[in-house]
Formats: sequence, structure tokens, C-alpha cells
Amino acid sequence: MQNFTFHNPTRILFGKGRIADIAREIPAAARVLITYGGGSVVKTGTLAEVKAALKGYTVFEFSGIEPNPTYETLMQAVELARREKIDFLLAVGGGSVIDGTKFIAAAAPFAGDPWDILARQAKVRSAIPFGCVLTLSATGSEMNNGAVVTRRASNDKLVFLSSQVFPRFSVLDPVKTFTLPPRQVANGVVDAFVHVIEQYLTYPVDAKVQDRFAEGLLLTLIEEGPKALQEPENYSVRANLMWTATLALNGLIGAGVPQDWATHMLGHELTVLHGLDHAQTLAVILPAMLQMRREEKREKLLQYADRVWGLREGSADTRIDQAIDHTRRFFESLQVPTRLSGYGIGADAIPALVAQLQRHGAVALGEHQDFDIRRSQRVYELAA
Ligand code: NZQ
Ligand code: ZN
Repeated sequence: MQNFTFHNPTRILFGKGRIADIAREIPAAARVLITYGGGSVVKTGTLAEVKAALKGYTVFEFSGIEPNPTYETLMQAVELARREKIDFLLAVGGGSVIDGTKFIAAAAPFAGDPWDILARQAKVRSAIPFGCVLTLSATGSEMNNGAVVTRRASNDKLVFLSSQVFPRFSVLDPVKTFTLPPRQVANGVVDAFVHVIEQYLTYPVDAKVQDRFAEGLLLTLIEEGPKALQEPENYSVRANLMWTATLALNGLIGAGVPQDWATHMLGHELTVLHGLDHAQTLAVILPAMLQMRREEKREKLLQYADRVWGLREGSADTRIDQAIDHTRRFFESLQVPTRLSGYGIGADAIPALVAQLQRHGAVALGEHQDFDIRRSQRVYELAA
């Protein structure tokens, strides 16, 4: 096992009806800015529930944070937060609203050009404290310190990480996910699945409990994911999926092990240039990525084949082929296409995707930092 520091300060309020408890987590004199997306939380009544729980607080609202939140929109919220001297933010929505809120939290008190937080990884020395009410389980953003923001004007989708942007608390009420459209349910399962894979399917470092945790999360997604599509109001299924997606990217399974993230990096360029949902990009890239890197990932692929898919017959190469095939078929069974052609994207799109990776310096990816641009190009070609 590798050395690590693990610290996760986010308080989780899990279960039915927990929105009612948020006032205990926010200072009574706070000037609170509620942030949300395109209006699902208005339709579902979640926003009204949040406002009822904040009775007596000074509350402002900022809406319109889009899926794959943009710098352009978020900077309007930064202005509002500065103007109104906001001292607590409350994100109500999915990963995009939470990520956007992390950026607002960091950018509002930032002395220089806020874009540098993303483009130059400028140090975030302070941030407005914030909490979350999660409505879509997928990203793990509700319990981690990362955020992904897109600048439309320049076609950049960039990540920043800072210990200042862990949420103070997150409400995880599985009932709030009953209203998700099937596409977002499937996206959530695929995204959480690939988060586990990025931290598990590398090379062995004898991290036994991290491996067993990771395999448990994958098995839960395989078992419960399809049920959520069939029985959208099954509380137990939603509860298991929600906690699984949070644990998939809250630092726990990634502590002390090598991490990959190349699938995510190649996927981000597909979202920027072609508008695919984040999870759709992962479903396209991952099977091709595993095929391409089957030698360097051989030992873990065999462990994955055995412990996750129960594949124990045939040669090692056959079992690896089958494991990759099972992964692809799992995504397809959730109605998430796993080829570029499934989204109407042809091989002619590949040079521009590769150029984006080059421009973003994504030229030495993966657990060995040796996954170069030529191999990235090959992955896009295999995914066609
Ligand atoms: O905008 P509204 O109207 O709220 O609708 C949203 C949105 O259209 C809708 N929705 C959310 N909750 C709902 C609901 N509709 C009905 N009922 C509900 N309960 O779902 C749509 C998608 O929402 P979004 O927040 O974009 O989805 P997701 O949670 O998958 O977030 C994706 C974003 O997170 C980033 C992605 O890159 C992408 O920008 N990621 C963040 C990570 C992190 N911070 O750790 C890691 C991930 O790898 C990922 O990159
Ligand atoms: Zn992801």
C-alpha cells in the first residue's frame, strides 16, 4: 500500500426527510445564496422544501446553472455573491450545481482572475462555506473537493481541487432521486462505476481493503442500477445507489492506491466538442481504454474478471476479453451507447479531440503518467 493522507470533513445527513435538519448546519445570521440548475428542483418541490427549512434566514437565489456548468454563468453568481455579501452557499441539485457552487465559493473571495483557479491551478486560500442538497447520485461531488467547469468561449472543460471546497454538509435523501429521468439514472450508475474503475483497475499494490471496497461498490452498482430503472420509487434501491456513488469518489477507495483518470480526461473533450453527457463519454471511452491497456492492467483485469464478473473459465486472455465485454454490455443494458457512432460521431471527429488533449497538456496520463497522445488517439479510434 502506498503512503497517504486521508481527511474528509463533509458531514452527511442521510435519509428521508433530512432537508428539515439543514438549519442546524448553517449559522443563524448567515446570508445564504441558494444555487440551482434549470428548474427541476422547482418542479419537484425540493426548492420549496429547502426554503421552508431556512425560514427566518436571509436567503437569495441563483438559478440557471447548466449541466456541465459554465464559467460564464458562474461568474454572474460570483458577482451576486460579492454584491450581497453572501457568507453561506447552498447547492440544490446534481453534480453540475455542486461543482458550480464550489467554483463560486472559491472565486468570490479570490483576489486575482478567477479563471486562473482552473487554467493555472492557482491556489485557493479561502472559500465561502457551503452545503449541498443532492438530487442526482453520480459524481460524488457532494463529499469531495473537486469541481469541473467549462468555459464555453474557449472550449475548455477543466478541473480544480482544493481542500477549501469540501462541502460543510450534504443532505442525501434518496427520495429526491425518484424523479430523475431514466437517462440520468443510467448516467449516475455509469459515472459511479467508472469512478471506482479509475481507482481500482490499475496495478496491484496489495491494498486489500481498498480492492474489496471497490469490488463491493461495483457489485452494488451492477445489482441495483437496473432495478432503479425498473422501479424508480424503490427507496431501498435508491438508498443503496446514492451511498455507493458517494463512496465511489470521496477519497476512501483511492487512498493508498495508484489512480488512472485517463478515461475521464478523454471523455471531457467529447463533452466539450460534442455535448455528450459526462457518463456517456465514459461509456464510450472505458471499453476501448481497457482493450488498449490490457497488458499494463493485466493483473487487475484478471482480478476484476474473477471477483466482479465471476469469470473463471478459459485462458487469461479470454477472461480479459469477457470482462471488457461484460462491462460494455452492462452499460448498454442501461441504454447508454458505448460507441462514438451511437451518438452520431464519426472518425472524422478524432483529430480535433486529439488536438484538444494536446492543448490541455493531457499528454502523460494514467497510473504510470505515460499514456501519451498517440495512444489517446488510438483509444478514440477503437471507440469509433
Ligand atoms: O438543471 P436541472 O433542471 O436541475 O436538471 C438536471 C440536469 O438537467 C437534472 N436533474 C437533477 N436532479 C434531478 C433532475 N431531474 C429530475 N429530478 C431530479 N431529482 O439532471 C440533469 C443533469 O444534472 P447534472 O448535475 O449535470 O448531472 P451530474 O450529477 O451527472 O453532474 C455532471 C457534472 O459533474 C461533473 C461532470 O463533468 C459534469 O459536469 N463531474 C464532477 C465530479 C466531481 N466534482 O467530483 C466528478 C465527475 O467525474 C464529473 O466529472
Ligand atoms: Zn465522472
